[in-house]
Amino acid sequence: MDRYGVFGNPIGHSKSPQIHRLFAEQTGQALSYEPLLAPLDDFSGFAREFFAHGLGANVTVPFKEEAFRLADQLTERARRAGAVNTLMKLEDGPLLGDNTDGIGLVRDLLDNAGVVLQDKRVLLLGAGGAVRGVLEPLLTQRPATLVIANRTLGKAEQLADEFGELGPVSASAFEQLQSPFDVIINGTSASLGGELPPLADSLIRSGTTFCYDMMYGAKPTPFCQWAADLGAQTRDGLGMLVEQAAAAFELWRGVRPDAVPVLTQLRQQLAG
Ligand SMILES: NC(=O)c1ccc[n+]([C@@H]2O[C@H](COP(=O)([O-])OP(=O)(O)OC[C@H]3O[C@@H](n4cnc5c(N)ncnc54)[C@H](OP(=O)(O)O)[C@@H]3O)[C@@H](O)[C@H]2O)c1
Repeated sequence: MDRYGVFGNPIGHSKSPQIHRLFAEQTGQALSYEPLLAPLDDFSGFAREFFAHGLGANVTVPFKEEAFRLADQLTERARRAGAVNTLMKLEDGPLLGDNTDGIGLVRDLLDNAGVVLQDKRVLLLGAGGAVRGVLEPLLTQRPATLVIANRTLGKAEQLADEFGELGPVSASAFEQLQSPFDVIINGTSASLGGELPPLADSLIRSGTTFCYDMMYGAKPTPFCQWAADLGAQTRDGLGMLVEQAAAAFELWRGVRPDAVPVLTQLRQQLAG
């Protein structure tokens, strides 16, 4: 059986094995996909052992940067992201590193939520690994402006500088932002701690602004709750998770699964 899996530590919580099993069922592909608990002190040795027989793997916290260094070849979006979430063994043995997080977000926004990014004012909150990974695919959509706001301003400035050649990117502190945006994407981990970055209510135009939190949960995240209270449309990151998996599956198998029924099933489970 063709072997795939997801490297992480911890890994027990990962929804990827379920997602990929559903994709395999849906597309009639015979494969196995397992959670792979990699040791913190020897990711590369563990990964190389897996790839003696394995064909592909996803990579999650905390190994995305190590996977970037492990890969023999990189896609352009992985190179820009500085992180790899998908590894694939190429025919003659080398490992290809890709990053599908950004395309997962963009597909969830465009295809599943019906959001348009072209010519829109987009605000991206945070400047960590997730934000770095989504910048290139977001800029490919040609927003009118993309502002990166982060608690540590220097990190937002660095990203704006690095990605400036791809489109109209600038950096800001949260407190400086006052004018409304069309789309606001929360890529901070603030929601994990039940917190919300210090954002002015004036950033949201009731009934028009679309707000997306890369985090997801059974209940609305603090960011989605704040936005909904101000009349914004909101969506959490469960669809991004399923869409990044669909893009990885397509890379490995050459077949694009339909993410929507899988997303519906996961959403029902989460709610239950
Ligand atoms: N749905 C998906 O498929 C998916 C995929 C990837 C990531 N994510 C989510 O994206 C989020 C970020 O992940 P990451 O890997 O980028 O993390 P990271 O590299 O650790 O970066 C964390 C970011 O959050 C900011 N931050 C943390 N606590 C904050 C607070 N209380 N107030 C304001 N800003 C705060 C940090 O600001 P400083 O720079 O100032 O420290 C930094 O910009 C996580 O919630 C993760 O679950 C979701």
